[in-house]
Amino acid sequence: MHNTRSTTTPIHSQFLERMSPRAFVPEALTTAQIEQLADAARWAPSASNKQPWHFAYALRGDANWDAFSAIPNEANRRWCLNAGALIVLVSDRQASPGKHSFDAGCAWGYLALQAHDMGLATHAMGGFSADEARAVLRLPEHLVPEVVIAVGRRGDASTLPDDLRERETASPRKPLAEVLSAGALQSRV
Ligand SMILES: Cc1cc2nc3c(=O)[nH]c(=O)nc-3n(C[C@H](O)[C@H](O)[C@H](O)COP(=O)(O)O)c2cc1C
Repeated sequence: MHNTRSTTTPIHSQFLERMSPRAFVPEALTTAQIEQLADAARWAPSASNKQPWHFAYALRGDANWDAFSAIPNEANRRWCLNAGALIVLVSDRQASPGKHSFDAGCAWGYLALQAHDMGLATHAMGGFSADEARAVLRLPEHLVPEVVIAVGRRGDASTLPDDLRERETASPRKPLAEVLSAGALQSRV
């Protein structure tokens, strides 16, 4: 993989600039900011336009914050509790069997890019307790907690523990040619 974030085609700079940091400035987001993020996310395309997603959030320090803080796993709690908000993205497998996770993933992408446009950073976490999420959000069986998203203003890497500070860099990607095929894939995957 290349070590830098450069690209060979003229794509929008947001795709290279967005990244998932772990250092956040510990200040609460506003409800208006969260609404703006979810508003962007709900314009994501979905199979048969079922929109099988829901965003449950806690703002840093609000009445739901402590309960939401228990959802990420220990490794993620080390850094994500400095975020300005935690969002649990839930998909509805009853509304869109077989496509609910795919569609929720697209909504997450929209949310992340909207946040970037607002000068905010996002970091998705698959490392969380689904049981805890189900209990905190009182989810019925057909609603699936997909990911927890930390959102906030990016903080200084110096605020992180040593091991995490070293990882606070923009990650690379596989070369375009490795993920793009004209016609059939040639024993790459
Ligand atoms: C579904 C999903 C789950 C993830 N889970 C975690 C996680 O539990 N902990 C973590 O630190 N990062 C997690 N990440 C962040 C990825 O590691 C990160 O997006 C990837 O390395 C690319 O880096 P970038 O987002 O900075 O471009 C997750 C990302 C996604 C999309």
